[in-house]
Amino acid sequence: MVLGETAAMRRVQAPSRGGLDLSINHLDSPTGGLSSAGMRDVRLLPRRARRRPLWLRSLARSRPVSEHWGADRGLPIDRHYIEEFLHAHRADIRGRVLEIKNSHYTLRFGHEVIRRDVLDIDAANAEATVVADLSDAPAVTSGGFDCFILTQTLQFIYRFERAVSEAHRLLAGGGVLLATVPVVSRIDRHAGAGNEFWRFTPAACEALFGSVFGPERVTVQSYGNLLAAVGFLTGLACEDVGTQRLDERDALYPVLVGVRAQKR
Ligand SMILES: C[S@@+](CC[C@H](N)C(=O)[O-])C[C@H]1O[C@@H](n2cnc3c(N)ncnc32)[C@H](O)[C@@H]1O
Repeated sequence: MVLGETAAMRRVQAPSRGGLDLSINHLDSPTGGLSSAGMRDVRLLPRRARRRPLWLRSLARSRPVSEHWGADRGLPIDRHYIEEFLHAHRADIRGRVLEIKNSHYTLRFGHEVIRRDVLDIDAANAEATVVADLSDAPAVTSGGFDCFILTQTLQFIYRFERAVSEAHRLLAGGGVLLATVPVVSRIDRHAGAGNEFWRFTPAACEALFGSVFGPERVTVQSYGNLLAAVGFLTGLACEDVGTQRLDERDALYPVLVGVRAQKR
């Protein structure tokens, strides 16, 4: 596990947003922050005046508070973890760097980048310099990249094992794959329910990437906890929950997994 500066250290914690009962102190408490005496008082109130515990009101929804992963409220919770992962491994983002869909993370975290490329299966993507199916890309030359940023993509590739093998093939000797995958996430509305196939646990990542790169060349880091998982599914943003709470890690409630794998 790599210990680095956490995103929490880099970002000032923003206050919770108004308009919704999202107070995390209340989320923590089964009584919604009321003492037992307070609960007795509540029972004396007329039914109409009773307020459901705040944590329950936040959870008792059939629709998320955001249809955009929380992006319309702030930084989506999974992006907070992705940024933390890439920041921790920014030393690897150098030389000839390949990224999926666009070069956002190459530009943000890379240094001494001598060439940027973007791979996408989508030929309509104007930013793509390489149009290919990552699970079957024989036309793409082997060994051409020093770093491959493969964030939030493997879940869309049915033959994900082949995609990891291709990613390994595209890297030069000593090159590094930085991949992130979701463990807990809604379905991507843009990709469509029919195009999203998988979720990956930390154990699956160890086995999958270890079988291709060699177990000793793979580091797996999981991010998240119960609050992060519930908040992310609900559509809360990082700013709603607070980075300090997001950065508590509970191995039994991973939201996202980051994998660093280095080619021999
Ligand atoms: C959600 S984006 C993830 C990449 C982006 N950099 C990010 O971090 O969000 C998923 C991208 O994977 C691409 N994609 C899906 N299946 C693919 C495949 N088999 N080969 C290559 N790209 C694929 C999609 O077209 C889309 O651009």
